[in-house]
Amino acid sequence: MLDLWYKNAIIYCLDIETYRDGNGDGVGDFVGLTQRLDYLSGLGITCVWLMPFYPSPNKDNGYDVMDYYSVDPRLGSLGDFVEFSRQAEERGIRVIVDLVVNHTSDQHPWFQTALQDKNSKYWDYYLWSKEEPEDIEEDIMFPGLQDTTWTYAPEAEAYYAHRFYDHQADLNITNPAVREEIQKIMGFWLQLGVSGFRIDAASHLIELRQADNLFEKVDDPFIYIDEMRDFLSWRRGDAILLAEANEPVEELHHYFDGGDRMQMLFNFWSNQHFFLALTRGEAAPLIQSFKDLPSVPKIGQWANFIRNHDELTLNHLSDDQQDEIAAAMAPDRDTMWVFDRGIRRRFAPMVDGDPQRLKLTYSLLLTMPGTPVLNYGEELGMGDDLTLDERKPARTPMHWSTAPNGGFSTAPADQLVLPVIAEGDYGYKQINVTTQQQDAESLLNWMERAIRLRKECPAFGWGKWQILEVDQPSIFAHRCEWQGHVVIAVHNLSQADCEATLTLPEDGGRCLIDLFTDQSTEVSQQSSYTMQLAGYGYCWLQACEKTG
Ligand code: NOJ
Repeated sequence: MLDLWYKNAIIYCLDIETYRDGNGDGVGDFVGLTQRLDYLSGLGITCVWLMPFYPSPNKDNGYDVMDYYSVDPRLGSLGDFVEFSRQAEERGIRVIVDLVVNHTSDQHPWFQTALQDKNSKYWDYYLWSKEEPEDIEEDIMFPGLQDTTWTYAPEAEAYYAHRFYDHQADLNITNPAVREEIQKIMGFWLQLGVSGFRIDAASHLIELRQADNLFEKVDDPFIYIDEMRDFLSWRRGDAILLAEANEPVEELHHYFDGGDRMQMLFNFWSNQHFFLALTRGEAAPLIQSFKDLPSVPKIGQWANFIRNHDELTLNHLSDDQQDEIAAAMAPDRDTMWVFDRGIRRRFAPMVDGDPQRLKLTYSLLLTMPGTPVLNYGEELGMGDDLTLDERKPARTPMHWSTAPNGGFSTAPADQLVLPVIAEGDYGYKQINVTTQQQDAESLLNWMERAIRLRKECPAFGWGKWQILEVDQPSIFAHRCEWQGHVVIAVHNLSQADCEATLTLPEDGGRCLIDLFTDQSTEVSQQSSYTMQLAGYGYCWLQACEKTG
């Protein structure tokens, strides 16, 4: 039987350098992270996604890799990685890692050798053009920081392609030798115990640019993903590929392709529409987004998230819709936006730290069709530091306690990899793990309870889902059924209290148990159920046959 563990996983994304410093040098490391595995296990996390930890000049937060087979010495050693992965396994926590193979750092020996010697085999690892390419200024990923997507290298007397920064040279996926390298990298980390990969920039990895040295003419570049998936499955049957592909919704089915490609895809589409729905206090945009999504194959799954380590991209929304969200959650374009397309804030400050909206949102995240992915610190409602540049405001170190540097590191504050948020409502003295652990009403304790409940309801992850009809525009209600187990989640996206009537055609006369309060009620024989919900209220119901 296929092991579909990822369909009911609770995934937690973290960056080792900002999580916990185990040796007091100001930089988070594997030793520090390993010491916090019990925290993650207590929270109910079942899978940790590690952002890139490979040796790197670190000009793009590690997404500029210099060596795929090692650990950046600032973060520890391969030995520390193995110790971490063993300890994680002991606690039932799987590990997935970022696979950044759309590009390498320009400091990678492959690129350096290519620059120096056109006859070396590494020349064809990259994409070159002798003439200035026509699309040199098209599809810039980091407007303002990047002017072109090809850069002239005088040593090589040619332009090299780079979809992202000019220090990230794009690999030539049409070259079989490059694809072999990618498989070797995957094989290496699988052998060290990882359960899969987050495929960075998946849509760009397979994009075919007009370089001089393409190896084959392919009509369907997805064959390269098929190849990766085959390799993955041959090496380890239960390992997964989780793709980052923020593409138009009509394109997304290609990534699943009946179950032969990616097992998981980040749900950027619903993420953006969730923000619109929350801004308007209306469920319609979120409901429509789920209706728009292609159906996923049996082994496929959406990876839902609220915020990640990048900016909140709103590229699938119109300018007016973006303005609506901006007015409500990120009004200062100069400090709160980046690349003219997304918001660089963390979620809690976007909703003024309002506990009701935070719980509503994470309750939705935990129940929406798909697997939830939390970004470190979200469980605390951590804030951002808008004085930092680019995407750094949402990447500050984790707050563990009220100790100096929020317990992240014992190094002097000016030696930290990034400053800890020390002042204001989101400072570490206010918001940290230890304080919230002692407060029964904290977001952290709520999250722990909610995650436990989510795990007790596998129908949310494995079940067939349907959006329910409700007579109130602010309500998002859906039903999931799996092997006779039925759960229903109801979320009020507006701040106003409301009375809502749900239509439950399959549950007439059944008993409904509120999973947070254990109170039970009944669906009428006519299959309708009327309930009261507070502003930003939510409830999870289990439907069962009446006994006696
Ligand atoms: C996507 C990553 O999430 C982002 O942080 C990075 O800058 C780009 N890929 C380039 O690797």
